[in-house]
Amino acid sequence: EKGGFDWFMLKEIAEQPRAIADTLLGRTDGQGKLVLDEVRLTDQDLRDVDKIFVVACGTAYHAGLIAKYAIEHWTRIPVEVEVASEFRYRDPVLDRSTLVVVISQSGETMDTLMALRHAKDQKARVLAICNANGSTIPRESDAVLYTHAGPEVAVASTKGFLTQLVACYLVGLFLAQIRGIKYEDEVAAVVAELHRLPEAVAQVLEQMEPVRELGRSMAEADRMLFLGRHVSFPVALEGALKLKELAYIHAEGFAAGELKHGPIAVVDEGTPVVVVVPPRARDLLHGKVVSNIQEVRARGARTIVIAEEGDEDVVPYADHVIRVPRTPTLLAPVVTTVPLQVLACEIADSRGFDVDQPRNLAKSVTVE
Ligand code: F6R
Repeated sequence: EKGGFDWFMLKEIAEQPRAIADTLLGRTDGQGKLVLDEVRLTDQDLRDVDKIFVVACGTAYHAGLIAKYAIEHWTRIPVEVEVASEFRYRDPVLDRSTLVVVISQSGETMDTLMALRHAKDQKARVLAICNANGSTIPRESDAVLYTHAGPEVAVASTKGFLTQLVACYLVGLFLAQIRGIKYEDEVAAVVAELHRLPEAVAQVLEQMEPVRELGRSMAEADRMLFLGRHVSFPVALEGALKLKELAYIHAEGFAAGELKHGPIAVVDEGTPVVVVVPPRARDLLHGKVVSNIQEVRARGARTIVIAEEGDEDVVPYADHVIRVPRTPTLLAPVVTTVPLQVLACEIADSRGFDVDQPRNLAKSVTVE
């Protein structure tokens, strides 16, 4: 049932190209337009949206953080992202023109469910992004966009996460299309790029042997830092979460620009620091992140750098470079997350832990 893989998690990582393709299937028309008839909110409802909340827990929350960059850019609608357990207890400002997007792989997470009920009580429209057909969260939502990842068995979410990202992009582009605003040309271009993602992820997966080897060399690490900026910041958070939950190594993700405001103090000789570098097309940020790599290296960090093909600027400061194909910036998390999944899985395995069933964790958290 693990299809020749040592762990369900590795099998599910390998299924990601297929999962992404299935999540896109039938949702675009070949001319770069989105066809989301299944989202049963009227065009008028969607045109009236003046504020979006994305609400979720854990890995799904990280998908929401990335969604914010994309949805705000394409639609110019303000987006707030919040963990469900905080959202529901703080009296957020909600009304009829608020769209609340809840993201949940299992569709049964209690905190997310309670947040959605609260949003509905306040008359907000609720759209669920969910993987489990017919589960409670989509049943109670006004509309649902299913991710077609297929069942996720490993406790740590992998294909669930990548397909949540794809679904978030679809929601953002769909809103942009309906509202007919200035990024219309860009919508068609991005839709074409979305269809290239399965191949891009497959390419990353083909190059995972050195990453697994690297993981095996890191079994003794006692802490790790993950750095990124812009959409790579939530990717850094996700990399750190995966490592904590699977390998029981204390890890933190930071916005690289925050380094000097505190975190750099913990870097010393040999501290592994993973840096997710933005595409070179984003000149300003790219240069700044390269300087950040230099800064941590100067304090003795062992630098593991995830950078796009052909980015030679990072080479002088990287102890290890992991290559990913070029993608548009907003879509980059789909490819840059994959090596972090593999790394966490391999480190946990080499420390002798059960990758699929980490201690203290359950696949779906149906209590608060
Ligand atoms: C981490 C992980 C959890 C879940 C979170 C939400 O790998 O799997 O952080 O993402 O418990 O679960 P769902 O998406 O089922 O609501």
